[in-house]
Amino acid sequence: WNKPIVVVGSANADIYVEIDRLPKEGETVAARTGQTLAGGKGANQACCTARLAHPTYFVGQIGDDAHGHLIENALRRSGVRLDHLARIAAAPTGHAVVMLQPDGQNSIIIVGGTNMCWWPEAVRGEDLNLVRTAGVVLLQREIPDRVNIEVAKAAKNAGVPVIIDAGGVEDPIPTELIETVDILSPNETELGRLTRMPTDTFEQINQASKKCHEMGAKQVLVKLGSKGSALFINGEEPIRQPIIPASKVVDTTGAGDTFTAAFAVALVEGMTRKDCLEFAAAAASLCVQVKGAMPSMPERKGVLELLQSLKFRRDH
Ligand code: RIB
Repeated sequence: WNKPIVVVGSANADIYVEIDRLPKEGETVAARTGQTLAGGKGANQACCTARLAHPTYFVGQIGDDAHGHLIENALRRSGVRLDHLARIAAAPTGHAVVMLQPDGQNSIIIVGGTNMCWWPEAVRGEDLNLVRTAGVVLLQREIPDRVNIEVAKAAKNAGVPVIIDAGGVEDPIPTELIETVDILSPNETELGRLTRMPTDTFEQINQASKKCHEMGAKQVLVKLGSKGSALFINGEEPIRQPIIPASKVVDTTGAGDTFTAAFAVALVEGMTRKDCLEFAAAAASLCVQVKGAMPSMPERKGVLELLQSLKFRRDH
């Protein structure tokens, strides 16, 4: 299982503002504090798989500006291989305004920047060659769909499993993409948007996942926030995982990215599906206890210690 994980996706500078509440229409509110941190769903996932000690490449684009340098340094410090990170002058680095509220919940607005400036004709041959060597490929929805489709097809033809995190733009996910990837991973809101079905109860989520199967998804990995997560494999019983409660929830930004990335690490390492879910839940539980998206991605040691302490409590 030493084939690398290849993450193709977005990189953002996250402009964090900590507020007591969201402003109403026409209203100005003062933030308690603000800072700029590395983020973006693709870069977050790459950072997470690298910190979980799996060899990781990030294929993405940043601008030649301060935000780009911030992201590059953060990824390098986490051990992500950056040979396929392109620095382009055509646009500013993507960024996101993250409005963080006291209960740790967030609202995010993204500005595409370089994330949306992929080569018009095709994905670069050397990037597709890298994808073909991967143990698993991770995609999200903050870069153009056509790039995701091309990457997913290259991976599929080479027998490489692909997980797409449904997080990112609201546009419907192209059927071609749903049919090509192996695992579609929405949260409950994204699942509702995708299927136009309610997702309040587990039975509704089960039905919505069945609709995803009808739409061509082979496996649906649903993140349910405080209700945990579940994996729906077409024709099989769902596998459920409760959340692993965090001692304090400081910031949920990046928790979904952490979950998907940790699941991918466990999968490529050959764990059972049930263990993959538990490993991912442990990683997400550690993530929400630290502020920031990329800064909150856990190290492997922390995840293993948490899992060990849970096992100890179960056995005694
Ligand atoms: O999933 C969290 C991420 O969403 C943030 O880092 C932000 O950049 C947006 O992409």
